[in-house]
Amino acid sequence: MNIYNNAPIGVFDSGVGGLTVVREIMRNLPEERIVYFGDTARVPYGSKSRETVTRYSRQIVRFLQTQNVKAIVIACNTASALALETIEQEIDLPILGVVKPGAEMALQTTRNKKIGVIATEGTIHSGLYQRLIAQKDPEVSVFGQACPLFVSLVEEGWTKDPVTEEVARRYLKGLLEKDIDTLIMGCTHYPLLRSLLRQVVGEKVTLVNPAYETAQALKRMLAELGLERDPAAELQGGKYCFYASDAVDHLNEFARRILPFEISETRQIPIEEY
Ligand code: DGL
Repeated sequence: MNIYNNAPIGVFDSGVGGLTVVREIMRNLPEERIVYFGDTARVPYGSKSRETVTRYSRQIVRFLQTQNVKAIVIACNTASALALETIEQEIDLPILGVVKPGAEMALQTTRNKKIGVIATEGTIHSGLYQRLIAQKDPEVSVFGQACPLFVSLVEEGWTKDPVTEEVARRYLKGLLEKDIDTLIMGCTHYPLLRSLLRQVVGEKVTLVNPAYETAQALKRMLAELGLERDPAAELQGGKYCFYASDAVDHLNEFARRILPFEISETRQIPIEEY
């Protein structure tokens, strides 16, 4: 078994968006090492079938296992919604997705039991946020809205642009009419729209960031399993390693934009071979 405390956490996403989860892990678990894989050759996952997303996720998990990770975080909401249930039965490593931590926080937050979820089409149609919330409290109503344009707008850097605000107003109109008091930003990219979303939904709606909640869940999981890294342990192989299936420059550039630390150059991996 490759499980040991000094080993890195494997984190993966369909592309660059999962760096919002990496950012939260860096901030909240500063001692942990991270190996990140972004599937930039095959992004987006949000419009793909469960079978395809599961096949892609399985290949990435195999790659991460070659990096001797001690735990895996599926940073992608779509892959968490469509593939986690299958993958967790296939591997012998602790694995965590972003959907459950986000759903749990929304349940704690809502007062009027009306929760909105914005995400990719795949995540919304999977119904997983809705299901997890209903299992815990059947009285809560969950309203989903796919917002596919947000991913491109964020990658374009238009996080404070009037065009994005107009798009957000259109997407969120229906949810606001339902009187939601909690909104889950259920896609890797959406936390980067936080201030714009705040303007659109107003002060009365609480925004839930599954990336942050996942970092907290990871912290609890590592503590429970006794897998926390000893800060004094030697850092063989670097603290943070980044891999992608294509467009490494795009990942480097996005990482520089949003991460609190400088990263070493991203390396390209032929993920279809795994
Ligand atoms: N990372 C995806 C998610 O969180 C968004 C981008 C995609 O569609 O692949 O659902």
